[in-house]
Amino acid sequence: MTRIILIGFMGAGKTTIGRQLALTLGLQFYDLDWYIEMRYHKKVSEIFAEHGEAYFRDLEQRMLHEVAEFENVVISCGGGTPCFGDNMDYMNRQGETVYLKLQPETLAMHLNMGRTVRPLIAGKTGDELLQYIKEKLAEREPYYTQAKHTLDVSLMDNYEKIAITIKLLREELSL
Ligand code: S3P
Repeated sequence: MTRIILIGFMGAGKTTIGRQLALTLGLQFYDLDWYIEMRYHKKVSEIFAEHGEAYFRDLEQRMLHEVAEFENVVISCGGGTPCFGDNMDYMNRQGETVYLKLQPETLAMHLNMGRTVRPLIAGKTGDELLQYIKEKLAEREPYYTQAKHTLDVSLMDNYEKIAITIKLLREELSL
């Protein structure tokens, strides 16, 4: 049974890489944010706006417990998932956790280009965004680095990133 759980900051490419990894390995792919949206018929941004972050974190934990029971899957989590409650310990018990590590500058570039509506960074651009990423990443890295595997993907450019990451992940996980 294979269960791979990708974690990392917003804009790390968890969804893009997770989907491709699942395809390559013939596994099902689940994105936790999409799963929440499908179960609740609401966008993550709407849940934040209507109920606030604490409510979202509670929901996120409950949905994580559903998704991380599925077998032969690749799961990509939200950037905050590992940092609340005992989620990180739980994920380490459930599967092969992988931290996709990128430098703040690269994350900022991805987030500036991204089309996903992300409530925590809505309206932030340029220096303000970079500053936010640096501060938040410093807070979150102690959780992210508890993953069983860490893959530093900052130095790869976008074009080769997916293919190389998949190759490295397969080597790391012996798959
Ligand atoms: C969040 C990241 C988002 C989403 C929510 C909160 C975070 O997921 O779960 O907006 O706290 O970093 P992505 O990392 O997929 O953008």
